Amino acid sequence: MPSRTNGVGVQVEETKICVVMVGLPARGKSFIAQKAQRYLQWLSIRAQVFNVGNYRRNDAPHPTADFFDMNNEEGERKRRVAAESAIADMLAWFRSGGVVGILDATNSTKERRKWVMDTCSSNGIEVLFVESKCDDEDLIMANIRDVKSTSPDYRGQDPEQAASDFRNRIKMYEKVYQTIDEGNGEDEYTYLKLMDVSKQVIINRIQDYLQSRIVYYLMNLHIRPRSIWLSRHGESLYNLDGRIGGDALISSRGEAYARKLPELVRQSVGDDRPLTVWTSTLKRTIATARFLPSHYNQLQWKALDELDSGVCDGLTYQEIKDRYPEDFAARDEDKYNYRYRGGESYRDVVIRLEPVIMELERSEDILIVTHQAVLRCIYAYFMKKDQAKSPWMNVPLHTLIKLTPRAYGTEEERYEAKIPAVSTWRGKGSTAKHENPTPESL
Ligand code: F6P
Repeated sequence: MPSRTNGVGVQVEETKICVVMVGLPARGKSFIAQKAQRYLQWLSIRAQVFNVGNYRRNDAPHPTADFFDMNNEEGERKRRVAAESAIADMLAWFRSGGVVGILDATNSTKERRKWVMDTCSSNGIEVLFVESKCDDEDLIMANIRDVKSTSPDYRGQDPEQAASDFRNRIKMYEKVYQTIDEGNGEDEYTYLKLMDVSKQVIINRIQDYLQSRIVYYLMNLHIRPRSIWLSRHGESLYNLDGRIGGDALISSRGEAYARKLPELVRQSVGDDRPLTVWTSTLKRTIATARFLPSHYNQLQWKALDELDSGVCDGLTYQEIKDRYPEDFAARDEDKYNYRYRGGESYRDVVIRLEPVIMELERSEDILIVTHQAVLRCIYAYFMKKDQAKSPWMNVPLHTLIKLTPRAYGTEEERYEAKIPAVSTWRGKGSTAKHENPTPESL
């Protein structure tokens, strides 16, 4: 297969992939599907989840467990129609340039998988089955709790009744569920089997680069509770002048923030567990992290260094506008894609952050002390901010952001050190130093 880059430096084969989720209800399939979509979109690879349940709800919005009984002909018919509609929409989406379609459904029988396989193959689409098998009662119960409180199927219902109906629904599926089986005519399929969310994985016949990227990402996911803390460095001498880039030291207020950071962290962690601290290789982040407890492991990543502003390094926005007016306008026009002469764009930063994200997914509690542009990119990954908006986001100095991934999204808390600092935010078209952010930039 010829390969091409998709404009972000990521090699994408000239293929289209349908990721077909497989597994009983409450096995975290939607969680996995959503994460994969978010990761791929963040890398500018067109990805979309097609959730068969959403299609089924058009016809059967609040079904009880017996709807899912395989002997219920009406239920079977409606479920089949829902799957056909989801696949039809997915095929149309592929024709319009989609690269990775994710079919989120149980696909729990061999027969259903063969049908999906045949339909995709005859449309020139590769299939990667991703089965989530899970016998861990705690995980299943946590999922059931989540479903009963978040699923539109049970909206407005008594939570206990919803949980009990959902357990019955699972039983209906258990009667017919067949795991993807090598010895059962499915050994030709490309698949990834995740047992108890990556405690054990089986990989079969991965064919190309993009498939292996997706598999590698999914293998690294875990759902153990943890948080990620993000902070910019303390105010720097360059920040005071409104200069960008450089490797300046922190100001006296920045120093005060560095001294306050251990207390802010303690307050937000809530107990004594140690964090791992990642900084960039620049002086201002290392100085900011230096008062954190010595039993916290610290690691410096080059990939966390600030966006490289090339020939503009060390200038103020006004100086950039005076010396490179066309560049200044071009950046405002498309801030995500604009690459500084001899430097980087936000898009470039995302690509170099990819290993950081992979490592973050594998890790537990991490505190990252980094820079404005880099923090925006990491934040965009967790909070699903779109590329047109994320480079304009306000990330104030002297503020600790705590992100806690949950089954259906990420929770955010902010802790302000209440140590004054200049604003380094800049609105479109402006060259002003220390401008006040607008409400849309939050
Ligand atoms: O001003 C601080 C800073 O971290 C600069 O070093 C960097 O170039 C800039 O922020 C990135 O923000 P923006 O993309 O909004 O110019």
